[in-house]
Amino acid sequence: MATFRKIGVLTSGGDAPGMNACVKAVVHRAKEQGIEVVGINGGYAGLIKGDLVDLTSEKVANIIGEGGTVLYTSRCPEFKTEEGIGTAVKTCRDNGIDALICIGGDGTFRGATDMTFHGVPSIGVPGTIDNDITATDYTIGLDTSINTAARLIDNLRDTNESHDRCGVVELMGNECGQIALYAAIASGAVACAIPERPFDEDAVIRRIFARRAAGTRSTIVVVAEGLKTPEGTPYSEAFYKKIKALGIQAKFFRAAHVIRGGRPTVRDRVTAARMGNRAVECLVNGESNLVVCEEDGKITTMDIAFALIADRMYKNKLKEGDLDRFTPEQIDRMKAICEKRRTEIAALYATVEHIAQ
Ligand code: F6P
Repeated sequence: MATFRKIGVLTSGGDAPGMNACVKAVVHRAKEQGIEVVGINGGYAGLIKGDLVDLTSEKVANIIGEGGTVLYTSRCPEFKTEEGIGTAVKTCRDNGIDALICIGGDGTFRGATDMTFHGVPSIGVPGTIDNDITATDYTIGLDTSINTAARLIDNLRDTNESHDRCGVVELMGNECGQIALYAAIASGAVACAIPERPFDEDAVIRRIFARRAAGTRSTIVVVAEGLKTPEGTPYSEAFYKKIKALGIQAKFFRAAHVIRGGRPTVRDRVTAARMGNRAVECLVNGESNLVVCEEDGKITTMDIAFALIADRMYKNKLKEGDLDRFTPEQIDRMKAICEKRRTEIAALYATVEHIAQ
C-alpha cells in the first residue's frame, strides 16, 4: 500500500468522449481513500506551466455526460525534452502532487512512463476514439465516435437515395481502421477501405456499378483517414475523384472532428468510470507505470513499457533492441496480443464484405 496525500489527473492528445467520466471516477475513488485530486489543465503542457485546478466531488458532480474534456488537452512537443520533463516533475514537487493519472493515447503513456522514471508514479488510462492501442481491446471514446459516424452516414444516405448518388465518407482513426469498419457495418456500406487491409478498388467499382444497374440508388463507401495513396495523399479523395471520372454521381464527405465530440454513450461512460476507479486503486496498491486495459470484458492492467512495445510490434515499428529486455514468454505474449488484434480486424472486415453482398 502506498500513502498518497494528493494525486494529479490530466487528459492529453486528442480528446475523447468519456474522458470526463473518467476524471469524475478518479476524483470520487480518490476521495474515498482520503486522497485529494488536482486537475492539470491542458495535458502535459499544463503540467509544465503549473496550470492546476483543485477537483472536488462538487466540481465534477455533473460532468459525466459531457463531451470533450473539462481539463482541456494539448499535444506537447516540449514534454519530450529532458528540460520539459524536469519542469513537469518540479510542478509536482512544488504542489505536493505525489502521483499522476494520465488519460490519452500512446503519446500520453510515454509521458506517464517518463514521469514514473523521474520519481512521480503514474498510471495511463486509454482515452482516444481511434481504439489504436494494441494492448487494450477498447479505448474510451470509440463507441461514441462510431455511433456519431453511423448517424451522420444515415443522414447522408437519405439524401443520396433521393438524388441517386454514391457517398464517399472519410472517417478519422489515425493509422487504425476500426472506426471506419464499425461505421461501415452499422451503415450498410458497400465497402470499407482501411490501412490494415489491401483494398480491391476495381472490384468495389464493379460492385457499385452492379448495384446501380440493379436499381439501388444510394451507395456508401467508407474510407479510413489513415489510408493514403502512394503519393501520401488521402485515398478517400482519390477514390472519390476516380468514381466521378467514371461517371458515377458522387459526393465526398469528411466527417473529421465532428465524430470526436458529443455526449459520450453509456458504453464510454461506464468503461471510463471503471478504468478511472482502477487507476486510483493501482496507485493506492503501490503500483505504477501501468496502463489500464480492457481484456475480454474485464478491466486489467499491463506494464506501460510492455504495452508500448507490443503496440510497436503490431504496427511493424519495432526498433533495434526494443525486445532485448523482454523474456521469450513476454515476447510470445506480445505476439498473441498482436494476433488477437489482427483477428479482430479481419473479422470486422469480413462482416463489411458479407453485409455488402
Ligand atoms: O487521435 C485522435 C485523432 O482524432 C485521430 O483520429 C486524428 O488523426 C487526429 O486525432 C487528429 O488530430 P488533431 O485534432 O490534432 O487534428
